[in-house]
This record gives sequence, C-alpha cells and structure tokens, in this order.
Amino acid sequence: MASPLVEDEVIRVRASGKINLALRSGPRRSDGYHELATIFQAVSVYDDLEARWDEPGRFSVTMTGDQADLVPCDDSNLAVKAAALLARESGNRGLGCQLTIRKAIPVTGGMAGGSADAAAALLACSVLWDLDADPDDLLELGATLGADVPFCLTGGTALGTGRGDRLAPVLSRGSYYWVLVLNEAELSTPAVFGRFDQLRPLGGGEFAMPPELLSALIAGDPAALGRTLINDLEQAAISLHPELAEVLRAGRELGALGGIVSGSGPTVAFLAGDERAAMELSVGLATHGIGRAIRRVHGPVPGARLLS
Ligand code: C5P
Repeated sequence: MASPLVEDEVIRVRASGKINLALRSGPRRSDGYHELATIFQAVSVYDDLEARWDEPGRFSVTMTGDQADLVPCDDSNLAVKAAALLARESGNRGLGCQLTIRKAIPVTGGMAGGSADAAAALLACSVLWDLDADPDDLLELGATLGADVPFCLTGGTALGTGRGDRLAPVLSRGSYYWVLVLNEAELSTPAVFGRFDQLRPLGGGEFAMPPELLSALIAGDPAALGRTLINDLEQAAISLHPELAEVLRAGRELGALGGIVSGSGPTVAFLAGDERAAMELSVGLATHGIGRAIRRVHGPVPGARLLS
C-alpha cells in the first residue's frame, strides 16, 4: 500500500484541447505515420483530471462528462497508459494511481482529447509520486504515447514537425475567438489519414506554413488569420462525412472570418472577429440546427497545468 501520509493526497490538472490552424501532410512513411508540418493553438475546452494514490502496480481511470461512455476505461485508455509508462520509467515498483477525468474535449473530435488526458496524467502523476521529472523527459515520454501529447503538455501556439511531436514556439499576439461545431459523426484519426492516402498518395505536396498565417498571428489579426487557415486532411474528412461541407458553408454564410475542420475532424472550428461576433455566430449556428452541439472557446491557452 501507499504510505498513509500520502493516501488522501489529490493532484488536479487541467488540460486543453487544440485546433490546427495549418496542417500540411506528406505521404505515409514506412513507420505508418505521416510527416507533418502543423501550427497548433491550444483552446479553452478542458479535461480536468484528478490523480490519487493506489496500490503498487494498479493504474485505473473513471470518466465523467456527457461523452464519457465513448471512452474505454481499461488498460487501453491513454491516461492509464501514460501513468503506467511513467511509473515503469521511474524504476519504482511501489507506484500506483486512480485517475478521474471530467471530459469536455470532444471524443474522437480532432481536438486531441485523448492526448490531453495523457498529458494531464503524466503531469499529475509526476507530482503525486514526487518524481521531480524534467519537463523535457515528460515531453519525450509523451511523444511515445501519441504525436499530439507533447503539444498538450506545452499548449500556447506552436509549430509541430515530424509526426507533429517536435515543437517550436510560434509568436502570436492577442486572443482568438472560435466557435466549435461538434458533430455526430465519429471520425477516427487513422481512418482519415487512410482516406488522405487514397486521395493524395503523394501527400499534400507542400510543407511551408503560409507566410500570411504567420504574420497574421504576429499582428494579432483575426481577419487575416481567417483567410489563411488550411488543413490537408479536410478533403479526406469531408469525403468520409460529406455533411461537414454543409457545416463549413453555413458558418461562412453566417459571417465567420474562416472555418476549418479541426485536425482529422469531425469538429469544425470557425474564427470570429471578437467575443461578441463569436456569440452572434454561435447563436446563428444553433438557430439553424447545425451540428450536435456548439461551443465558444478562445486561444491560445496554456497546456496541461496544476490546479491549486
Ligand atoms: O500518434 P497518435 O496515436 O495520436 O496517432 C494516431 C494515428 O494517426 C496513427 O496511428 C496514424 O494512423 C495517424 N497519424 C499519422 N501521422 C501522424 C500522426 C498520426 O498517420 N503524423
């Protein structure tokens, strides 16, 4: 059993979801992954995780939230895998934890919900178990769990290369206001990349980030950013779920500065000029019955962080 001194201890961590402002993909590599160049922005939709001690070698998770039943809570859960991996890497066989996650990031929504939970578990368990882990070591461990996990640890705005897991900061000024349309369809990331391979076997062909996008971020200019959003996976996601084209059209007609399928979808993100415009856009989309649910978020926000 864990020491009685720490049995009641609870560590709370909040992790954010992400939008890809630009996502350029090369063809499939021999390891099954695609070489990417992407700009991530962390946005204010959060999964909250609590970690408590458990018996050595026991790692479990309980999930709450309106899509909780869609997430497996066995050993295949990415947060459980993260905790078990961190314990193994520490070399201490006395570690175990119970995790509780309140889910708000859409499940299989293209917003890195599973990766956010893994990032939260790595941070929470490293504190719970007093491992004094080096942040760079957590990033490295995170990358072995999933390509988006390192970004979910750092948050903010960043360029991701390689599988999307090698990060460099990107200058960004101000806050951006988004309206997310959550959709009924389930699009798995491997299925969307598989469709991308069929549609574009040679890849998107272009790795450069649009210079206008980078200058829009530096200037803090949402109108310019809205014009330059780009996602090489968008056509693949639309071909698997054609209703996404209708959603994109509806948001643009209702005045969004730009709209994009988030990552592998099916969540669609619309950029608004300010908070008030985001409110009006969200009301318009809801009135037209677009999507399963509408959320207003802003970014950039930090990655996984301790809550007091
Ligand atoms: O790394 P993660 O487990 O999140 O990736 C899920 C799947 O998405 C991979 O198994 C792969 O099919 C696809 N993927 C890819 N290229 C990337 C990232 C993900 O093909 N750069």
